[in-house]
Amino acid sequence: MTHYRITLLPGDGIGPEIMTVAVAVLKQVGQQFAIDLQFQEALIGGAAIDATGEPLPADTLDQCRNSDAVLLAAIGGYQWDNLPNAIRPERGLLGLRSGLGLFANLRPAQILPQLIDASSLKREVVEGVDIMVVRELTGGIYFGQPKGIFATETGERRGVNTMAYTESEIERIGRVAFETARKRRGKLCSVDKANVLEVSQLWREHITQLAQEYPDVELTHLYVDNAAMQLVRYPKQFDTIVTGNLFGDILSDAAAMLTGSIGMLPSASLGAANPGVFEPVHGSAPDIAGQDKANPLAQVLSAAMMLRYGLNQPKAADRIEQAVLAVLDQGYRTGDIASGAPAIGCQAMGEALLQALQ
Ligand code: IPM
Ligand code: MG
Repeated sequence: MTHYRITLLPGDGIGPEIMTVAVAVLKQVGQQFAIDLQFQEALIGGAAIDATGEPLPADTLDQCRNSDAVLLAAIGGYQWDNLPNAIRPERGLLGLRSGLGLFANLRPAQILPQLIDASSLKREVVEGVDIMVVRELTGGIYFGQPKGIFATETGERRGVNTMAYTESEIERIGRVAFETARKRRGKLCSVDKANVLEVSQLWREHITQLAQEYPDVELTHLYVDNAAMQLVRYPKQFDTIVTGNLFGDILSDAAAMLTGSIGMLPSASLGAANPGVFEPVHGSAPDIAGQDKANPLAQVLSAAMMLRYGLNQPKAADRIEQAVLAVLDQGYRTGDIASGAPAIGCQAMGEALLQALQ
């Protein structure tokens, strides 16, 4: 029996509902594969602000550091939207990423045949799409210095953020991307804005240099504006995409929507040594929170990514992914992927998954 300590961060909005489903699925798979998963819950985001005044209490970060993996649901909600930046729920998430040194964010966007008609794009454009966005997560404009809102000499205020990457930051995300592409279809597209930004010129230079070590991977480069266009024009040209923090934030949402529902997509945030954080790409959906309407599948697939990338249990991960496909084959749909047809709730989807796992 292999033992793992998992920190659960249900967070806000639909977070607790979808987390309940994912934990039930993990428990069942754990039994089937003799993996002993010990769960401990901690506070993050709005829930943490309400309880402690801070979006990422020190206890939470400690607990995460001392576990084998972290499963996060979602953070944020209307009631915390007007708080100052330093104590917004989003700060909890950013603090967790930087606190655990999770510089590599893997965001797969794979179109499932069962859901092809949920995409807003034509079937022939999205059929077969299978993209992995590798987003740099602890650098770039999200963390660069100087940052802030400063008074100028003329008395008006000036908002500043800085997009910066060091060579070592580019190299370590580059390596993750080349390794990822190597395990997929061997194609890597690096996205930057090297026609305008110096930081991107350095990025491009380093990624190009790194490519010499990965002769089996075919490297291309695109400017981010063109990449956005190509993603919706002909997404099948992409295999693995590597890009900085902000461009990756934007492009991964666009890639997600190719698949029809952002409610289906998991992600993994990985560092060098610390436990990884696994979370759905979607947010906390406060408009449907507590109504049993949420789609738990992205959370469940994040649990599968946790088993695969965080705990090195690929067979258990496969099992969960197969169960998700099975319930879709059986016709079960939550509202977001039902295309107007009758939908089931979050709990019922969880029960269908447990059946499929039998
Ligand atoms: C994401 C989100 C976050 C980000 C927010 C909530 C801080 O949009 O994970 O993509 O910008 O990274
Ligand atoms: Mg985002």
